[in-house]
Amino acid sequence: MLRDLIRKCRSFRRFYGDVPISRETLLDLVDLARLSASGANRQPLKYMLSNDPQKNALIFPLLGWAGYLKDWPGPVDGERPTAYVIVLHDKEIAPSTGCDHGIASQSILLGAVEKGLGGCIIASVKREELRAALAIPERYDIIHVIALGKPKEQVVIDEVGPDGDIKYWRDAAAVHHVPKRRLDDIIVG
Ligand SMILES: Cc1cc2nc3c(=O)[nH]c(=O)nc-3n(C[C@H](O)[C@H](O)[C@H](O)COP(=O)(O)O)c2cc1C
Repeated sequence: MLRDLIRKCRSFRRFYGDVPISRETLLDLVDLARLSASGANRQPLKYMLSNDPQKNALIFPLLGWAGYLKDWPGPVDGERPTAYVIVLHDKEIAPSTGCDHGIASQSILLGAVEKGLGGCIIASVKREELRAALAIPERYDIIHVIALGKPKEQVVIDEVGPDGDIKYWRDAAAVHHVPKRRLDDIIVG
């Protein structure tokens, strides 16, 4: 079951824009992050939530979408995320987040998929513009944004081919393909 959930837990970038996500759902997802591993158990991550269309509209233009899809500027109006979790580093708690933010974010995404939702970690963020737009205090570094919604796209996993190309791509039916390296190719001994 965990394997199925992880296989389904792809990066989704097109959503049903008319399917809202409640604040309770966002809190439930962040609670999974709260319960996840943290280096020395310092727990320096904090979260800012958005599920309000006006706040979402401030966040969306500050995000970079699917850098390998050169002809695609990101989801059109109507297919945009309906919620965001902004992952913050509280510098007053610890000087670094280590890898906590990756673990926490995967917990959030797995929880989303279990609920029939999906999302995408976005590290391509205009951080200072986002800080200004949402009045995020200086004590927090903006690590990344998790975009969430009800996925409106099919994403499939392929095997990386002999040419070694790992770039994701979209086919003529707009199915999103994600090449993953073979298990044999990532075991070094
Ligand atoms: C740390 C991190 C940063 C990412 N930043 C972005 C981003 O800025 N924009 C984007 O569209 N996708 C971003 N992604 C999503 C990756 O492109 C995606 O994970 C990768 O293509 C593999 O697809 P999969 O998540 O379906 O396995 C990011 C993923 C991670 C883990």
